[in-house]
Amino acid sequence: MNLTTPTLMLCLVLTAACSPTLSEVAHQCLRITQPNIPGAEVLSFHTKVIVNGTVLGDGQSLKQDIHNIHVCEVNVTLSHDNANDTVSVLTWLPLHGWNHRFLAVGGGAWVTGQGTVDLALPATNGYAASSTDGGLGGNPYTPASWALNPDGSVNAALLDNFAHRSIHDMAVVGKAVTASFYKRSAKRAYWGGCSTGGRQGMVAAQQYPGEFDGILAGAPAIYWPQYVIAELWPQVVMREHGYFPPSCELNTIVAKAIEVCDELDGVRDGVIADPAACTFDPFTLVGTRAACKGSANVMISNTTASIVRSIWDGPITSDGVSLWPGLPIGASLDALAGTELQDGVNMPKPFFLAQQWVQYFVKQNTSFDVANLTAAGFESLLMESRSKFDSIIGSADPDLSTFKANGGKILAWHGLADQLIFPQDSVRYLTEVQGHIGGREATSSFFRLFMAPGVDHCAFGAGKSFAPGAVPLDPLGALVAWVEDEKPPESLLGETISTSAKQLTRKICKYPLQAKYAGCGDSTKAESYSCI
Ligand SMILES: *[C@@H]1O[C@H](CO)[C@@H](O)[C@H](O)[C@H]1NC(C)=O
Ligand SMILES: *[C@@H]1O[C@H](CO)[C@@H](O)[C@H](O)[C@H]1NC(C)=O
Ligand SMILES: *[C@@H]1O[C@H](CO)[C@@H](O)[C@H](O)[C@H]1NC(C)=O
Ligand SMILES: *[C@@H]1O[C@H](CO)[C@@H](O)[C@H](O)[C@H]1NC(C)=O
Ligand SMILES: *[C@@H]1O[C@H](CO)[C@@H](O)[C@H](O)[C@H]1NC(C)=O
Ligand SMILES: *[C@@H]1O[C@H](CO)[C@@H](O)[C@H](O)[C@H]1NC(C)=O
Repeated sequence: MNLTTPTLMLCLVLTAACSPTLSEVAHQCLRITQPNIPGAEVLSFHTKVIVNGTVLGDGQSLKQDIHNIHVCEVNVTLSHDNANDTVSVLTWLPLHGWNHRFLAVGGGAWVTGQGTVDLALPATNGYAASSTDGGLGGNPYTPASWALNPDGSVNAALLDNFAHRSIHDMAVVGKAVTASFYKRSAKRAYWGGCSTGGRQGMVAAQQYPGEFDGILAGAPAIYWPQYVIAELWPQVVMREHGYFPPSCELNTIVAKAIEVCDELDGVRDGVIADPAACTFDPFTLVGTRAACKGSANVMISNTTASIVRSIWDGPITSDGVSLWPGLPIGASLDALAGTELQDGVNMPKPFFLAQQWVQYFVKQNTSFDVANLTAAGFESLLMESRSKFDSIIGSADPDLSTFKANGGKILAWHGLADQLIFPQDSVRYLTEVQGHIGGREATSSFFRLFMAPGVDHCAFGAGKSFAPGAVPLDPLGALVAWVEDEKPPESLLGETISTSAKQLTRKICKYPLQAKYAGCGDSTKAESYSCI
């Protein structure tokens, strides 16, 4: 962050754009009253004016640098009663051009929010926006600093913060300081997040059904205690086959599947529109050459074909019962079937989040070796994770009746080439909500799901490797139009990111519809498609 000190230059910067004057607005920033948070004590409360600030992009949640940020920043730290935690909620209040909305931004992986990187874009678009660290220390890549108490037991208070409580903190604190600064309440409150942030959004609808008018949930990490274990399945499969194929062998098979199934929808665009309809058989490639750099003679073996088949099929018991969906055909296998060279031998490299979930939470034993799981061990681990943690962080309660009765709306989307969170999980949740609410129509009146072909996890690597699909351009805008203008979205406009090899726009249809090419017109343009 580059910060310029407030004082007189405020007026020079933005005089024309503001009334009241910026110095008056800045003065209001310093006079925001400290929020009252039931069940928690405020530990510290700081406000400051940021003029012409900059936040550098991180390449993931914030793709580009953001300049010319003019906000009142409010930093509240709090501690929940009997929790011994220190939670920071950071709120950015635009100094001019507030759109009368409040937006709470969710986190990713092991964090409930990342602060300024998540606030920069919404705040420059007029939202009063909040992000919280949930008292977890802010490292997305490991929960090591907070998961366990000194005695080795799970830190239940911090797991509660991660699972749900931080959502409520953000809503209470963010709305209160927004109202204090602008001297009026936000007209609407929104949630926005992907992955862990998407899960938090679903939890908001389930557990805090009065706090948000609209919830945007991307690739929600719901069914957490189960799907996270299912992320280990590809490792189990490789171990059971006694072979850890290098990425180039696996990717050769995925690339071939995309080539074969690409045109099932009538358009050759490098994207499988409906992975479930792709019946590509990896065994047809046995004996053909794998695209491995530097070694021209690596052949696809029966073993590698069998591994890929089992990864796509997902975990299945010896009695043939499916325990969880597999990765969709077209998703990269690099993350979940990860391997690494050790002394010239390819060794297992389990996905970090799944490994840590097992070590810190399910087993509370950081020596537990997930790379040694057998199929039988996998099944009992899945059951153990579910029975211990489903009630805490399952995040998939289908009872959204109160949220619906309050007039809330959920817009969920999920990439169909998600390499980390199974897109079928979002469909399952929608179906369970439909069962609870009383059917498709009733559900569609407040909860819509959009499946984005060829898009990877949260579109983080969109355009790279196997993810040339069209990414939802402005799903928050679509949600706002639904909540405020009663325009329910039938499709989202999607566009490939600028660095993608192929450039196209597409309709991303409301599930279960799919975009179909009309047969005439430019096949790279959304207008040439309809949702069928
Ligand atoms: C705002 O900051 C940019 C650098 O990020 C600088 O080039 C510009 O001059 C600044 N504008 C004002 C009015 O201070
Ligand atoms: C918020 O305040 C706390 C307590 O003073 C401090 O530790 C933390 O770094 C602050 N956060 C930001 C983003 O300034
Ligand atoms: C509270 O947390 C601090 C560290 O964050 C720790 O040193 C202290 O022992 C904890 N107190 C209790 C009662 O758990
Ligand atoms: C190839 O793998 C399949 C599935 O694992 C197995 O049933 C079959 O016997 C194998 N074929 C050969 C020739 O090894
Ligand atoms: C932790 O896991 C390791 C490796 O599986 C095992 O040897 C050890 O006994 C476990 N410790 C406890 C306390 O269960
Ligand atoms: C895991 O398996 C490998 C060999 O497959 C073995 O060398 C290692 O000791 C095992 N680790 C544990 C913790 O059992």
